[in-house]
Amino acid sequence: MNPLLIQCSTLRMLSSLRPLLVVWMYLLVSSHAAPRYNNGFFYHDIMNGDGNGEIYFNGVRLHVESSQPSVSAARGSDVTLPCHYRYEPEINGPRRTRVKWSWLPTNGASKTTRETDVMVAMGNRHRSYGSFQGRVRLRRAAPGDMSLVIKELHMNDTGRYRCEVIDGLEDESVTVELELRGVVFPYNSQKGRYHFSFLGAQRACEEQDSTLATFDQLFAAWEEGLDWCNAGWLADGTAQYPITTPREACGGVDLAPGLRSSGQHHRHLHRFDAFCFSAAPKGTVYFLKRPQKFNFTEAVAACVDDGGHIAKVGQLYAAWRFMGLDLCDAGWLADGSVRYPIAKARPNCGPSEPGVRHFGFPPQQQKYSVYCNR
Ligand SMILES: *[C@@H]1O[C@H](CO)[C@@H](O)[C@H](O)[C@H]1NC(C)=O
Ligand SMILES: *[C@@H]1O[C@H](CO)[C@@H](O)[C@H](O)[C@H]1NC(C)=O
Repeated sequence: MNPLLIQCSTLRMLSSLRPLLVVWMYLLVSSHAAPRYNNGFFYHDIMNGDGNGEIYFNGVRLHVESSQPSVSAARGSDVTLPCHYRYEPEINGPRRTRVKWSWLPTNGASKTTRETDVMVAMGNRHRSYGSFQGRVRLRRAAPGDMSLVIKELHMNDTGRYRCEVIDGLEDESVTVELELRGVVFPYNSQKGRYHFSFLGAQRACEEQDSTLATFDQLFAAWEEGLDWCNAGWLADGTAQYPITTPREACGGVDLAPGLRSSGQHHRHLHRFDAFCFSAAPKGTVYFLKRPQKFNFTEAVAACVDDGGHIAKVGQLYAAWRFMGLDLCDAGWLADGSVRYPIAKARPNCGPSEPGVRHFGFPPQQQKYSVYCNR
């Protein structure tokens, strides 16, 4: 299910096959009483290889390593993806080593997504590409340090980054997964349950300052206890729902807890809710209260008068999750819904777990306070 896991196990299979191939080569060579090495390759070194994919040339091994296989960071922050190379044994004198960082975006919506270039560097010269132009540099804190520093992380920078080191004909690479810290929330249309096509769901999340959640993001949310009985679209075009407590009304008691697929999910024909992913908000979400309260149009205007704008649902969730926003008082949000965030559950403030409470989409002439973002 997890592409990374599948890739790792494929690599493991390949590397467990390789010693066999090598032994076979070695036997071919040694049966003719050949010297221990030939063509400059130390067969002895190959035999002792640990199967991790190092390159061997002239007895020198090029190692490319990362101290962190995955990094998670907040939107708008600067992030460093570690990558380091070295030769073993050490080589004296400069070499024409090139480094290339490329990127496979998370956005699972398109299966044809390819790795794209982020940056290439050789010596002191470097070049960055696309949306990374002017936003990336190599850290170079020590010899061999090719860590990539990305400034002002965007929502859409997540994915798998590959650090590739090229020396002549040899090249070695390592990958680092970049995740955004964030929160997953279920979202349904003002028109009711199961109203979104895939594109509609994508748009709805974006309007609430979030993106459609990926499978991995929903999976992580399920591990943290998210239990939701309505299926929602995910970025990969499937519709699923997370169940921690199996029950009759949600697919039955016989199925184990986990993510459940809704079965059929045609992007245009079928309608579901959405699972949105919201990263740390720009600005601060706060509660604006006046004795007379506001209808919806007044609420929108009140936030503008206060120097901000009415908060979006994704911003309220992120403030609840990351800033511990906690108010037992309902307020309007940008989509016309009324909600309030509870970080510490208590009597008369909804269920016994923390969460963002949802009053639905009341008639817009009704009077509430409002959540603003500034
Ligand atoms: C990513 O988002 C930024 C703005 O947040 C935008 O300029 C850029 O074009 C986006 N890149 C892609 C690949 O969607
Ligand atoms: C909110 O109240 C104002 C008057 O203060 C009124 O003009 C407006 O139409 C009302 N909006 C709604 C959605 O009821």
